[in-house]
Formats: sequence, C-alpha cells, structure tokens
Amino acid sequence: MAIRTVLRMGDPRLLEPSRRVEPLDTPELHALIADMEDTMKALNGAGLAAPQIGVDLQVVIFGVEFNPRYPEAEPVPYTVLVNPVLNPVGNEMEEGWEGCLSVPGMRGLVPRLSRLRYLGSDQFGRPIDRTVSGFHARVVQHECDHLAGILYPMRIRDLRNFGYNEELFPGEDLQEE
Ligand code: NI
Repeated sequence: MAIRTVLRMGDPRLLEPSRRVEPLDTPELHALIADMEDTMKALNGAGLAAPQIGVDLQVVIFGVEFNPRYPEAEPVPYTVLVNPVLNPVGNEMEEGWEGCLSVPGMRGLVPRLSRLRYLGSDQFGRPIDRTVSGFHARVVQHECDHLAGILYPMRIRDLRNFGYNEELFPGEDLQEE
C-alpha cells in the first residue's frame, strides 16, 4: 500500500461533503483504508478522514495508544468507521485543544459535545454503535467534520486560542488529527 499526500487547508477538496460508501467489503475500500492507515502511521496522527487524501467518501480512521509521556491522555481504540452518523447525548459542550494533519504545526481550542453516540460500520459492514465521551468523543467529531467539509479552525470561538504548536506548547510532541 502507500503513504498518500495529505491535503492542507486551502485545498478546496477539503471543503466538499463526502459520499456514502456502498457497497462495503470491496477491494477498493480495503485498499483505501490500507493507504489511510499507512499515511496516519507515517505522520504519527491520531486520526485521518478519506477527504484528507483527496477521496470524497465517508470513511474515517482514528486511534490513540496510551503514551507514558501523557498519562492523562485517554487512549482511544483503533477504529475504522464508515458511513458514520453522530447523535448528541445531552447538550453539554467542552473546549479542548485540537490539531489536524491538514493544518500542520498548529493547535486551536475547539468546543465539542462532551458526549455522543456514533453509529456506522467497519469496512466489512459489521455494525458499530458506541456511546462515548471526552477525548474519544472529540476525535470522532473532528474526523466526521472532515466528511462535511469542516476543518476545526472554522469552529474556534476565539481566534486568540489558535496558534503554532511551538509557541502554545513548547517542547511537546503533539499528535494531529
Ligand atoms: Ni483533521
């Protein structure tokens, strides 16, 4: 498989809504996901959406392993999520810092739902139905925003909370979604 070029903010393809994947469990879908995995791993990302490599399909992958340098960061199980639907659970919001492989080297403070239920399937068509909160919920919202053509800077409430990693978090090695 292959490491693909990640589109950066400013490329109009990142602003397009993505199409549903039908059917599932095809060689084309498996090849796409293999490329997405290779690309996310090569860039040490926490998540990647298909539009970020120029494919307008509703496919996201994400996962965060436990990192001893950031013991407070919750691990998120590695997940392939196709044709996702997000439903709020309650209306509580929380702000948190996000980065994005399409906005390299930057961080912004973004409000997200604290808790949500997400449904969809994996690449084989096996259903996924999870209710999550905190960082897991944040990552899912960030990735699924890509499928609607939304990049996290569009959601920042106060642009004073947007800047370069080296200035905001000196000396830290941060993951991007
Ligand atoms: Ni992103």
